[in-house]
Amino acid sequence: MSHAHTTIQPGYATGSTHFVRSYAKINLSLDILGKRADGYHELVTVMQTIDLYDTICLTAIEEDTVRVICSRPELNGDDNLAARAAQAVRQRLSLSQGVMIELQKHVPVAAGLGGGSSNAAAVLLALQQWWQLSLSSSDLLNIAASLGSDVPFFLTGGLALCEGRGERITPLAPHWPAAMRWLLLLKPAIGVSTAAVFRSLPPDDYTDGSHSRAICSAFINQGELHLEDLHNGLQRGVLERYPEVAQAREDMLQAGASHVRLSGSGPTLFAAFSRLDQAAPVQQQLHRQGYEVHLTRVVGSGGENITFF
Ligand code: C5P
Repeated sequence: MSHAHTTIQPGYATGSTHFVRSYAKINLSLDILGKRADGYHELVTVMQTIDLYDTICLTAIEEDTVRVICSRPELNGDDNLAARAAQAVRQRLSLSQGVMIELQKHVPVAAGLGGGSSNAAAVLLALQQWWQLSLSSSDLLNIAASLGSDVPFFLTGGLALCEGRGERITPLAPHWPAAMRWLLLLKPAIGVSTAAVFRSLPPDDYTDGSHSRAICSAFINQGELHLEDLHNGLQRGVLERYPEVAQAREDMLQAGASHVRLSGSGPTLFAAFSRLDQAAPVQQQLHRQGYEVHLTRVVGSGGENITFF
């Protein structure tokens, strides 16, 4: 069977091969309520998938194993979250089908964009469909949560309120304010460890969840969403600890972005624009300064187009 497809559609299957897209997310808002007894932090966060994605190609193999080939060789091996997702499904259902996972990374790694978590969720959903498995939604959620705090969100994607460790998901209506039609992402040239960011978080930065809940209400009521209300409880610590991120934020503001926010534990920063002719010059300026920038739009659950209000 030929795999020489020029256009790769989400969920495109050719008998023994299955292609899927695995979208990145941003945290529109992130409140950290406090540290839990299990070492994780209790969160209230609003996440949204964006049209920046990795491509995953799953192919049946004869051996009773999972292989992974990644365009970023440092991500090869059994620790890769996509490989761990396939192994978790095989173990849960005692399956002997082997699979090769080819992972073409476009989403920046260790960036606060959920790339690895999204890969894991995409593999779970693809195998469920392709191997016609009978995993219930709660089975899928449990497997996803065992792989990482952000993985359950990516089973639905779109816009969602995420609570607990991040694994309790309430999907929200796929409407999005026109003021945020274009999202400019800047990925500073450093990787950030989520665990290290959480470990050094001062309790002063804990909040009661009201920022994220207010954003949620604005979405539900299609009310005014004030960009200045977007809050990330990890931002202050990351800007203090990583001067490259603070500098990048300054440069975004200088280039004409406003209300620049960190996504997740960073280091990716984002800013919203209503029009392409406002966003594009800022992107070009930052690109000229040598930054990795991506101009993206939001996508709904499963990557479909969404309506703006
Ligand atoms: O769940 P995941 O493995 O993606 O989390 C990575 C690290 O981030 C955890 O080991 C933990 O240190 C930190 N974390 C946290 N509270 C959360 C999510 C992640 O402290 N809700």
